[in-house]
Amino acid sequence: MSDETLKLRDGRRVVLRSSRRGDGPAVHAYIKALGESTENILTYPDDTPGLEPIVQRIELIESGRFYSLVAMDPDTGQVAGNTSYTIGARKKLAHSAELGMGVLPAWQRVGLGAMMLNRSIEDMRANPNIHRLSLTVLDGNDHALKMYQKAGFELEGRRVRSVRQPDGTYADEIVMGMWIGE
Ligand SMILES: CC(C)(COP(=O)(O)OP(=O)(O)OC[C@H]1O[C@@H](n2cnc3c(N)ncnc32)[C@H](O)[C@@H]1OP(=O)(O)O)[C@@H](O)C(=O)NCCC(=O)NCCS
Repeated sequence: MSDETLKLRDGRRVVLRSSRRGDGPAVHAYIKALGESTENILTYPDDTPGLEPIVQRIELIESGRFYSLVAMDPDTGQVAGNTSYTIGARKKLAHSAELGMGVLPAWQRVGLGAMMLNRSIEDMRANPNIHRLSLTVLDGNDHALKMYQKAGFELEGRRVRSVRQPDGTYADEIVMGMWIGE
């Protein structure tokens, strides 16, 4: 996957590229900041993964079991956004990739999320082993849901009260999928 410089709607630029060895600390800082900024992801602010699991996932990219696209701020070297897919580890699930993504608040609403999503779908389509993409989005996260529908994901179902928020309330996850095989 080649590096690509994107110009955002507000004129700022980011470099879009695959995560590499050495990115662990920048990805870790991004996940922590995203978890602190929103309840729309599954990470509690005080429950972010440590550096080691992030480094291990980046190492899985070479074996084809993980995909991670980062948008880097070229001025600071910080991660502005990330789109990742976890590829099924079992043989019966190895054609299927589960999406997770986010853009930090300072970089939202200038087109980065939609551009990263579309680029990642193109990359998945180019992978002959992957035939299905899936994701979950929390009920009420309507702009994310619309962004996924615009990119081609379809509604498949709902996991009722599958998420417990920090204030003790429960939320449903909406399940979405896209067939990219023949
Ligand atoms: C969801 C998210 C990835 C979108 O990224 P983004 O860079 O802000 O998205 P874009 O600027 O590309 O906008 C995508 C679409 O959503 C709309 N949108 C984005 N943020 C919005 C907001 N706060 N309110 C209303 N619409 C919004 C845009 O108008 C755009 O629609 P369009 O294509 O019709 O113009 C980002 O807001 C985010 O990370 N949020 C917190 C974490 C999260 O919700 N992750 C998804 C978990 S499933």
